[in-house]
Parts: sequence; structure tokens; C-alpha cells
Amino acid sequence: MKLAIYIIFSLLPLYLLYLVALYFRAHVPFIATARRYVPIIFKEVQITSQTVLFDLGCGKGDFLFEAEKYRPKEIIGVELSPLHVWYARLKAKFIKSKITFVRQDFFTVNISRATMIYLFLVKPVLDKTWVKIRKECEPGTIVITLGDKIDGEKELKEIVLNPSNPKSSRIRVYQV
Ligand SMILES: C[S@@+](CC[C@H](N)C(=O)[O-])C[C@H]1O[C@@H](n2cnc3c(N)ncnc32)[C@H](O)[C@@H]1O
Repeated sequence: MKLAIYIIFSLLPLYLLYLVALYFRAHVPFIATARRYVPIIFKEVQITSQTVLFDLGCGKGDFLFEAEKYRPKEIIGVELSPLHVWYARLKAKFIKSKITFVRQDFFTVNISRATMIYLFLVKPVLDKTWVKIRKECEPGTIVITLGDKIDGEKELKEIVLNPSNPKSSRIRVYQV
């Protein structure tokens, strides 16, 4: 027991340091999408057997593991952090998930096959990612964002995640 506590307390600061280093590399903090948001999102946005879903900056795959329950054709998560990708792949093996996790800068990944893209990023990175999406993806591709708005774009839908809170996070759905 003492050893377990010792290990946890020595690994925790290392993990926090890792997150800080990741932030300086990605310019986006690692925060996972809350699992409870996923059914709210997919009540409004339909996943079909033809959906090819990408999460650009997928962290440890929290959003994607929930999305897989809606049985899309294919799911791809792209993430810079080796630690998070390693964890996601391990979890995928353990629960027999078919999600593909790619450890790469998503700006260098071909996303033209995507029919649906999920983004939980910060404003400057979101705007840059939208430019890439517009360039590479087919018209009709659905883009779901948590958090910031994409400037100058009209959303198809806006979902307030906690309607009783005026400062609630929002999901926005766009179409290329
Ligand atoms: C706010 S987290 C979202 C995690 C996940 N999408 C979710 O909703 O649970 C953003 C993630 O994007 C990753 N990221 C940011 N820029 C990236 C890039 N250019 N290529 C790959 N991953 C990136 C960060 O490392 C971080 O893990």
C-alpha cells in the first residue's frame, strides 16, 4: 500500500510536467470531452454506417470510444502525445475496439476521407484547422466543435450542453 502511494505521488508531478511540455508543443491543453456530452451530440448529429469519423487531437480517445457505440464505418484519432496514443491503443486492444490511433501532427495527415470531424481545440488552432478542412474535405463533411466558434461561418446547429447555466459549453455543428 505504502509503495502504491509512493509510486502515485512520484508519477503525478512527472505527468503534470509532461502535460505542460505537451501544451508548449501543441498549443492546446489536454482536456478530455466529458462522456456525458456524447449522447447529447449524437442525438443531434446522426452517425450512419457510412460515417468516417476523425477526431483531430484525440487525446486518449475518450470521445471516440463513446462514439464507437453508434457504429460508424471507421474511426480515426490523431494525436501528438505519444503517452495518450499509447494509452488509447492499449485500451482499444483491451476492449476490442476497431478505432485507429495515429501518433502524428494532424496538420500533416490526409483527412480527405472524413465525412465527420470532431474538434476540441482552442481558437487559433481551430481556425487553422478549419482552413485545412475546407481545403481537403468533400462538401457535406460535418464538423463538430466543442468550445470556440469558427469565425465567419454559420453553424448548422448549436447545442447548449447545460441549458441552466448561461455560461455553459456549447457544441457547434458546421458543414463544409
Ligand atoms: C482539448 S484536448 C481534446 C482531446 C479529445 N479530442 C477529447 O475531446 O477528449 C486537445 C488535444 O489535441 C491535441 N493536439 C493539438 N494540436 C495537435 C496537432 N497539431 N496534432 C495532433 N494533436 C494535436 C493535444 O495534444 C490535446 O491532446
